[in-house]
Amino acid sequence: MNLILLGPPGAGKGTQAETISSKHGIIQLSTGEMLRDAVKAGTETGRQAKALIEAGELVPDEMVVGIVSERIDRPDCANGFILDGFPRTLGQASALEKMLDEKGKTLDAVIELRVDDEAMVERITGRYSCSKCGMGYHDKYKQPAKDGVCDKCGSTEFTRRADDNEETVRARLLAYYRSTAPLIGYYFAKDRYNYVDGMAEIDEVARQIEDILT
Ligand code: AP5
Repeated sequence: MNLILLGPPGAGKGTQAETISSKHGIIQLSTGEMLRDAVKAGTETGRQAKALIEAGELVPDEMVVGIVSERIDRPDCANGFILDGFPRTLGQASALEKMLDEKGKTLDAVIELRVDDEAMVERITGRYSCSKCGMGYHDKYKQPAKDGVCDKCGSTEFTRRADDNEETVRARLLAYYRSTAPLIGYYFAKDRYNYVDGMAEIDEVARQIEDILT
């Protein structure tokens, strides 16, 4: 099963991708995560991406299309994948269609997480993750079962993203409406589009997604 999760910053794409991944045994592919890894590793891609990410702007299409194409060829994607944060422009969507075609793969569903923009600022500024395994948390909506200890790996170190401040979030929202929102019509016309209420509680959003997938 190959899926796309669509939605503005903070909509819950990463949160829901983690759940779908463990339930269905398919891989979560976050282009944001891949780019942040490249920044950390100091690669040429990372050097080019850093300033754009911190300004809340999109990186050029060529940069992410190549990364995704190489990543979905790996054996762990044979069972399927969830694209979290890709495609983000009509150019990326048509490159994806072409690459899936060439690799003999299909796109099973596109699911939009519909949310209220103002709530996204609160969600993002309260977000943090485990420094060791990357498990995501929120100050108010998703705390570890034991205070200060990661549920998944037991680490006590947590981190916040450099682009998770109010000013950058507003720039990211703008980039979403300018470049990514047109994908809703694109996938609707291709009969792949579905949506869920991304403002519901995390478990309820997961249940609505399951209804679409089963
Ligand atoms: P990326 O990492 O993809 O960030 P994003 O799209 O802005 O999405 P987020 O990760 O911020 O949000 P999310 O929807 O995953 O929400 P989450 O589940 O964490 O991209 C970062 C940057 O990289 C971009 O700005 C761009 O520069 C670059 N980039 C990446 N891909 C690119 C591409 N394809 N092309 C060009 N540039 C690209 O949830 C947020 C918080 O809310 C969490 O704390 C969570 O616990 C909580 N939460 C989740 N769901 C709920 C709920 N239902 N109720 C209450 N709280 C909830």
